[in-house]
This record gives sequence, C-alpha cells and structure tokens, in this order.
Amino acid sequence: MSIGILRSTFFLASITSTQIPLCAVTFNEHVAPIIFENCTSCHRAGEAAPFSFTNYKEVRKRAQLIAEVTSERFMPPWHAESTDIKFAGERRLSKAQIKTLSDWVAAGSPEGDRAKLPKLPDFPSGWQLGKPDLIVEMAKAFEVPASGPDIYRNFVIPLNLKENKWVKAIEFRPGSPSVVHHSLFFYDTTGEAVKLDRLSPEPGFQRMGRFVRSGSLGGWAVGGTPRPLPGDLAYILPKGADLVLSTHFHPVGKTAKEKSVVGFYFADKPPSQGFTDIQLPPHFGATAGIDIPAGEKRYVKKDAFVLPVDTKAFGISAHAHYLGKEMKMDAVLPGGKRKQLLWIKDYDFNWQEPYNFAEFLHLPKGTRIESEIVWDNSADNPNNPSSPPKRVGWGRESEDEMGSITLQVVAEQPQQLSLLKREYSQHSRNVVARRVRDASEQLRNARADSFEDIPKAILARHKARYDKDGNGELSEEERSAALAAWKKFINSRRRSGN
Ligand code: HEC
Repeated sequence: MSIGILRSTFFLASITSTQIPLCAVTFNEHVAPIIFENCTSCHRAGEAAPFSFTNYKEVRKRAQLIAEVTSERFMPPWHAESTDIKFAGERRLSKAQIKTLSDWVAAGSPEGDRAKLPKLPDFPSGWQLGKPDLIVEMAKAFEVPASGPDIYRNFVIPLNLKENKWVKAIEFRPGSPSVVHHSLFFYDTTGEAVKLDRLSPEPGFQRMGRFVRSGSLGGWAVGGTPRPLPGDLAYILPKGADLVLSTHFHPVGKTAKEKSVVGFYFADKPPSQGFTDIQLPPHFGATAGIDIPAGEKRYVKKDAFVLPVDTKAFGISAHAHYLGKEMKMDAVLPGGKRKQLLWIKDYDFNWQEPYNFAEFLHLPKGTRIESEIVWDNSADNPNNPSSPPKRVGWGRESEDEMGSITLQVVAEQPQQLSLLKREYSQHSRNVVARRVRDASEQLRNARADSFEDIPKAILARHKARYDKDGNGELSEEERSAALAAWKKFINSRRRSGN
C-alpha cells in the first residue's frame, strides 16, 4: 500500500469513526458475508440480475457501483418502506452494512485473508423453493413480436391430476423474462380453455370472452419472489383441472419466444380454512373513475372498507402502471389507532412484488382499511411513457393506468369468511353505483365547447363511427362531426335531467 493511500485511509477513518479501521475492511472478512447474504441469490448465473457476484473478482469489478446503488437503496430491490408491521424476507441492508460497503470501496476494495472467506450459500439451482412436486411447461413457445401494443394471452396446460391437490406455492419461470410482465394463474375444470386454445394454430387464446375460469391460483409479476402461503393455507386444485396462465407481454424491440415453466408445491393435507382478497379500489380500479389529466403531478384515488368480522391479514400487494407513484394502505383500528400496512413511496412498474407479513396480523371487526393511490402524469415523471404527457384513463395496456392495493386475509372464525366475502362484494357494487351517479352528474355538467372536451372513452367507443375514412386518425372535418354529436348528446342529457 502506498503512503498516499495509507494517509487518506487514516484521515477517512478518523472522521467517519468506524468501528473497523478503514484499511482493515476487506472483501473476505466483511464484504463477502453482506453480498452473499443479500445480493447473490439474484446476482448469479441463470437468475434475474444482469451480472454475477459470487467471488472477489466479480464484486471488485463493480465495487464503486455497488457502493452507490446500496447507499441510494436502489439495491437490494425492496420498495416497501419500513412500516409498523414486519415483512417476511425483507430485503433491506442496515446502515452499518451500507457503510461497510462504502468503506471497503474507499479503502481500495482489498481482498484480505482468503481463510476468512465464507462459503457461498447453497443456492437452489433454478427453482427458488427447491424441487417442485409437479413441473409443467407450455407445449409450444409463443412468439412475442418486437414491437406493437401489449399482448394479453391465455395459455392452457393440462395437469392430468388423478386426485385433488392443495397448492402451497407456485413458482413461475418465464422463458423470456424481458417481455413477460405478469402472469395470473387460474384453473379450469370445464374443458372450455382447451377448446378455445384449439381455435387457432398459435399457442393460447386471446380473450377470456365467455370463458369462465373455475378458480384462481395467484400469480407472478416482474421482480416477484415465490413465497409459500403461510400457516396451513393452500389453494384448492381439483383433479382433472387444466392450468391457465393469463400472461401480459410488453414488446421490447426484438422478437422473443416465451415458453413458461411452472412448478407446483403441494401440501399433504387440506387447509383448515380459506382466505380472501380485499382489493381497494376493487377490480384494479376499473370502476373507480380513473381519469388523469395530462401534466397532473398528484392524482389521487382513495377507497375504504370496514371489516365486518375479526380477521387476520397475511399478505399485501400493490398494482399500477408507469404513472403509479405512491401506494399506501392503512388500518384504522376501532379505537382510532392507525397502523400502516404498506407504504411504497416511489412505485416502480418493474418491481411488483407481493409482500407477506412476517406473522398473521390481527385486524378486529370494525377496522377501517384505507387505500390511497397517487399517480404522477407530469413531464417530471421519468417513467411517463408519453412526452408530452397525455390524458390517461383506466385500461389494460401498459400505457393506460390501473391502481389498487390488495390485502389478503383469513377470518378469525373460519365460518365467518363467507360473510366477509359478501360484504366485500357489496362494497364493490357500491363503488360501481357511486361511479354511475358521479358519471351522470358529470354528464350534466360536461363541457362541449371543443373537441378536447369529448372524453377519451367516448372517442374510443365510437371510433368506427367518427373515423369515416377509416384511416385511424380524425381529420378536421371528422373532429367537428364528433364534436357536434357530443354536443347533441350532452344537450339531450341536460334536457332529460339525468
Ligand atoms: C431480487 C433480486 C436482486 C437482489 C437481491 C439484488 N439485485 Fe442487484 N439487480 C437485480 C436486477 C434484476 C438488476 C437489473 C435492474 C435493472 O436493470 O433495472 C440489478 C442491478 C444491479 C446493479 C446495476 C445497477 C445499474 O445501475 O446498472 C448493481 C450494481 C446491483 N444490482 C447490485 C446489487 C447489490 C450490491 C445487491 C445486494 C446488496 C443486489 N444488487 C441485490 C436484482 C437483484
């Protein structure tokens, strides 16, 4: 070590008051345990991260970047703030760990004594949860084009189960992770999905249409880590059922072939109780009237539901698209005490991780569950897909918006689960009813002065009628015809008074 480095090392050590003298921070003794424990599960061959951190050479090469991304808390990826409730498998470095990493970089990233290097943990190869009880795969790969709109497609995989099963966990491994945004898992016991699949030569079918899915089995989204359901909870999977993967693709500039592989982990006995989702607002916000003006920095939607029975919550997840900014869910207990269940300060479309609480969380009857979702449709939002920003409504494309937070709960008294489900369905219907009332109120007060006053949804619905020459765009003439039709409609609403 040169005198110069030594001097600056002593200087740094004296002003930062480290427990470990700076020059003594080494890879083998101090850094490897942090990296192996918190980074290598993803940063190794065959996993989600773009490069490996399995030895000194690999880590040293990116030492500076590691110090930066850890002090910004960009890595390890974990988007939920620390709240009143502990999460299972929380990926957060302590301040001391972050400091050790930057001290190591400041000391010139020395390797240290090889005898002190910890053994690389025994990472499962491929399957995160170990070898599944059943592994199935799409029979044929589906080709995702290089560009064009997002694709939603359903793929059916026969399971040929000879008896009913109880599913503890499902691990989904996309063949082309760069294009698969999320996949929802269903089962079908009617044979309908297989029939729909046979209608076209390509794998899968486009729309759910009349297809009724028999039951849900959860899902996977970018950045998600598979986690088993807690306690003895499990999804029911009836014998003879076919698996349906309802997958959302986002083209990324080159063609990709997707052949998903799915691993099932079974429980050996049936669960003692069922569970349900409390999603606020319901239906991923489809009925919440999401209509975000271009340039709006803080567009907020709130929803709330009062628990009709004693419950225990175990999981929580948030979903929005690119404009999603902040996601919050609180529980206000009957006595007025507020507990924060989830707070994502800076939502990232690319990391839609479902969170599990470390323990079941008791939420008594009368607890008010509140959700608040904030979107940023300004030009300052680096994730805004439109420049300049455009008005955005609810829709299934990535460039449309959605927004909701979902809490997973069991009823403390298992027989009260059906009451909880009924009350929640009533809440969903109330949201729709309120929306219909608001919509007719809005229509009565709607403006019809310029083409911009016509709601986007109305334009989309009557596209064929307005776009007379069918060229996909509205000319000046077509626009004024559309405005005239809109004016006439608004005036008739005003006259009829509804
Ligand atoms: C859950 C999986 C996961 C874990 C755990 C994880 N990473 Fe990453 N890391 C990723 C992925 C995926 C990317 C690529 C992200 C992207 O391109 O946006 C990445 C990217 C990075 C980058 C490149 C960032 C850039 O700006 O180019 C660095 C450096 C990094 N990780 C360091 C770490 C360190 C250090 C840890 C542990 C303290 C860690 N990661 C833990 C998945 C992970």
